[in-house]
Amino acid sequence: MSESLDLAAFPADFLWGTATSAYQIEGAVTEDGRAPSIWDTFSHTPGKIDNGDHGDVACDHYHRWPEDIDLMKRLGTNAYRMSIAWPRVLPGGDGQVNAAGLGFYDRMVDALLEAGIEPNVTLYHWDLPQALQDRGGWTERDTAEHLAAYASLVAARLGDRVSQWATLNEPLCSAWIGHLEGRMAPGLTDLTAAVKASYHLLLGHGLATQAIRAAAPGAQTGLVTNHSTVAAASTRPEDIAAATRMDGHINRWWLDPVYGRGFPADMLDVYGVELPERPGDLNTIAAPLDWHGVNYYFPATVTEDPGGPVPYAREIRLPDVPRTGLDWQIDADGLEALLLRLTDDYGVRKLYVTENGSAFPDTVAPDGTVHDPDRTRYLEQHVNACTRAARKGAPLAGYYVWSLLDNFEWAYGYDQRFGLIHVDYETQARTVKSSGLRYAEMIRAHRDSRL
Ligand code: FCB
Repeated sequence: MSESLDLAAFPADFLWGTATSAYQIEGAVTEDGRAPSIWDTFSHTPGKIDNGDHGDVACDHYHRWPEDIDLMKRLGTNAYRMSIAWPRVLPGGDGQVNAAGLGFYDRMVDALLEAGIEPNVTLYHWDLPQALQDRGGWTERDTAEHLAAYASLVAARLGDRVSQWATLNEPLCSAWIGHLEGRMAPGLTDLTAAVKASYHLLLGHGLATQAIRAAAPGAQTGLVTNHSTVAAASTRPEDIAAATRMDGHINRWWLDPVYGRGFPADMLDVYGVELPERPGDLNTIAAPLDWHGVNYYFPATVTEDPGGPVPYAREIRLPDVPRTGLDWQIDADGLEALLLRLTDDYGVRKLYVTENGSAFPDTVAPDGTVHDPDRTRYLEQHVNACTRAARKGAPLAGYYVWSLLDNFEWAYGYDQRFGLIHVDYETQARTVKSSGLRYAEMIRAHRDSRL
């Protein structure tokens, strides 16, 4: 039974979208002048990715994008969140522009608009040109400047047609998972490098925001961050303090400076790393945004972990709660809480859910259909949470499902399927899953509710 949803809670011009990122779907990694990114390097390093998977071919979207836009039309979506591969556009990270790379995105934007689908373009979804990593990557201030130069170039080319821009996707993952935990590119496990990277990512966000606005007047520029609600595992003061630290690590560290509060003092103490700050940086980082994008997947429950890595708080696994195929806890209330926190605590005036979705091990049935009731339920519960937040005043202007297609799920490779559309990686055949059909139905129902 599907839930009945209060879709009239959303405005008439609500954006119903799907999201992807370049490295996860494009493939064609050596074509038309593209150079390697840190993800090419990392995924080809033995032992880093499940099954030794990599993005060399992925969904072959680089060649099949017209079919993929047709699929978006079939779903009835009116928005699409995509990312641009920096190493396609500037193979060396800076310097020489690759016209073929820019041309690819230029054609894609035209085709999306032609299909009545508004592109929301993310400039940096983790695929740093390897050439910049070789010069220190995000641990260096120069990388923030290079991001701004790349943003300026792309916005100058596409800004006459693209109005929605995001500077970064989930800087938390780039900094903490890429430089501290080592589970993502560039695969470092170094606290000082991680804190410096977090700082330069946020600085790069601020500089790129200025660059986009200068190159494309009228651009609506935002930032995409991922968050979890954090609960203490018990009422012990140690666990409550651990929850505060974890909240600092995954939420406040990324929001406070962007909303003009500076970096949280308690977390500066926890990290004990001096920031590479120069006068004026905090103002650059806090440039007012046109919108904020929230990526939400799961909540966290934590206990203190004095001997563990920063922030000395460890997530515990709750028994008897619903989970996705990735073992991620399902908790739609967390999404509602985060949207309201951004609204009420940070004063955000325009919000998108820029990613939300679930992985399950789908299979194609003998009759050719893909039946995914768990994903359908997840989708309904989370859209429902969005309607509750909207009714309580969250200025929610759109929702993007992660993901349009099954794709390369970073360190988990291809076993984890997040798509509304199934991809057979042998044949590249696409099949709309029943969750995709349900999404199309929701979009129609919302339109009807606003007629
Ligand atoms: C987010 C990433 C996205 C995707 C989803 C499942 O952290 O932004 O690329 O991998 O998780």
